[in-house]
Amino acid sequence: MTITHSLSAQTLSAGYGSRTIVDGVDLELPPGKISVIVGANACGKSTLLKTLSRLVKPTGGAVLLDGSAIDRIPTKKLATTLGLLPQQPIAPEGIAVADLVGRGRHPHQKMFRAWTAADDEAVADALAATGVAELADRSVDELSGGQRQRVWIAMALAQNTDVLLLDEPTTFLDLAHQVEVLDLLTDLNRSRGTTIAVVLHDINLAARYADHLFAMRAGSLIASGAPQDVVTPTLIDDVFGLDAEVIVDPVSQTPLVVPRGRHHDRSRAPRIGALA
Ligand SMILES: Nc1ncnc2c1ncn2[C@@H]1O[C@H](COP(=O)(O)OP(=O)(O)OP(=O)(O)O)[C@@H](O)[C@H]1O
Ligand SMILES: [Mg+2]
Repeated sequence: MTITHSLSAQTLSAGYGSRTIVDGVDLELPPGKISVIVGANACGKSTLLKTLSRLVKPTGGAVLLDGSAIDRIPTKKLATTLGLLPQQPIAPEGIAVADLVGRGRHPHQKMFRAWTAADDEAVADALAATGVAELADRSVDELSGGQRQRVWIAMALAQNTDVLLLDEPTTFLDLAHQVEVLDLLTDLNRSRGTTIAVVLHDINLAARYADHLFAMRAGSLIASGAPQDVVTPTLIDDVFGLDAEVIVDPVSQTPLVVPRGRHHDRSRAPRIGALA
């Protein structure tokens, strides 16, 4: 088990130019748990994650890691504690898969002592865990969207940080691979005690995998808590402007959101066969 770190935001605001995007957010990622952040497109999820990991400077409030302002923590120390997989990472042109994953080890390398067997092992473990070991020598440029996404996740795993933030790590993945990635993050959380925060668009997978759910709207947090306590038809309407029923997922017993839409709502019509 790793030491659990506490990452929190205090009345955190951030934006671009004069535009405020994250607006007075207070939150603490529950240490050693999986948090999922949900919210409509452009509500500020990625900006929040970037601000939490010091890529965007706050315009107000603060981000604290173990009680210390994050802007006072030396870069290398921060990089060995806190990892971020951005929504659209950019790979150096022509880089091989194993080399990209190896970059996750950079924060761990000491001066005058470059690559070690421990680095090799971390890279091999990350490649195996994400199912991309057979792609190790391929160029990242020539992978499919889903393969590339898994390579990025491998890089984040190789960094082996105690706190890991991932921005839509399941984009481009088919359903089986989405489940696999979320199972993998759960394994990581349970075996190493990694504190994980993930942005997800699939509310049902979010409700299943989250210990704690944060819902955002227009730069603010509007709900925070266990999925079974916060996922209601009212919340789904508030967050997404979507009319939906919430039932119980028969597999995980967590909330399952069933959208109504305009064309296929038969829930109030007589059942087929009932008219005969
Ligand atoms: N680098 C930037 N410069 C200027 N505006 C930006 C920048 N990045 C994001 N924005 C704006 O900030 C707002 C929030 O963007 P953000 O990427 O945080 O949203 P999001 O919730 O992650 O959305 P999505 O679900 O589409 O990824 C959007 O209006 C976006 O256009
Ligand atoms: Mg985003």
